[in-house]
Amino acid sequence: MIVLGIETSCDETGIALYDSNSGRLTHAIYSQTEIHAPYGGVVPELASRDHIRKILPLVKEVFTKANLHLRDIQAIAYTGGPGLIGALLVGASFARSLGWALSIPTLAVHHLEGHLLSPMLTHSELAFPFLALLVSGGHTLLVKAKKVGNYEVLGETLDDAAGETFDKIAKLLGFPYPGGPQLAILADKGNPHRFRFPRPMIENPNLDFSFSGLKTCAATTFKKSGNDRQTKADIAYALQEAIVETLTIKCRRALEKTGLSQLVLAGGVSANQRLRQKLLELTQKLSCRLFYPPLELCTDNGAMIAYAGYARLASGQKIDDLFIHAKARWPLDSFNHEK
Ligand code: KG4
Ligand code: ZN
Repeated sequence: MIVLGIETSCDETGIALYDSNSGRLTHAIYSQTEIHAPYGGVVPELASRDHIRKILPLVKEVFTKANLHLRDIQAIAYTGGPGLIGALLVGASFARSLGWALSIPTLAVHHLEGHLLSPMLTHSELAFPFLALLVSGGHTLLVKAKKVGNYEVLGETLDDAAGETFDKIAKLLGFPYPGGPQLAILADKGNPHRFRFPRPMIENPNLDFSFSGLKTCAATTFKKSGNDRQTKADIAYALQEAIVETLTIKCRRALEKTGLSQLVLAGGVSANQRLRQKLLELTQKLSCRLFYPPLELCTDNGAMIAYAGYARLASGQKIDDLFIHAKARWPLDSFNHEK
């Protein structure tokens, strides 16, 4: 089965063709970061307009690269939510119209389900059930993935997401949005002994997170300590360590609590090398396995949506309506087949 995947939930237009027989993947991503950088965050109206401009050229590009025609695809998957409603509607209406014209199944995929299943694109040995840490600009969740479409949220952030915390402090240190990746690079030059920030909520036995106090602590330290490059690097180091250690502690608890032996790390922050290193050490210590997507598929992309669409169709999901599904808010565990 060849599935066309369309991702437009935020500021990346991602288009992909996934062939489930051969595992072949062809994809293209256009990132709008330059458009939003002057505003210090994503401007929803600009995002929608740019998706409209880019979606058709990218679809054409991907079909040309894959040497395929529209008649070769058997299904279309698009991100139905959560995300920016205007941006979602661009991909959803494009996908639904094309699917209707071609008379092929067209389905809405949950954005986080896309991230969650993305390591399966390159790791055929990853099998349900598994634990997943989803860390992105908008979300921080620990999820027990029981089977396709059946996800139990074990814990989530009560305020800021991990990526959002990286981005907000990066902005304060003078990096353009989204500054998470640059903050991680700067952290490598930081003095490990100068600052130590709190590891929020680790005294609390549950699996929830809270990063807003840590953000305030980093911001206050910066204001008190000066604006030189070394201070910025020291703050970047201390912030990254606090976020990574907090995530690692909660992952250890979740693995021990559930008895699961596979941990999936996904979402934009899964590109963070320090987080990968710490989770690798943890999983080795617990005789578990760690899976994460290749770097190019860590942030938003169409490949994960094409794959999640394929997985849903293969698991027997019925496509029985012509509605355009777009939901700004859509809890990951709201469509479970069973608990
Ligand atoms: O999954 P994603 O592309 O979009 C959302 O659904 O939010 O994640 C983007 C987030 C941004 O906050 C970005 O700063 C963060 O992932 N990110 C990183 C790194 N690479 C991307 N944060 C820390 N270290 C990185 N290397
Ligand atoms: Zn995402």
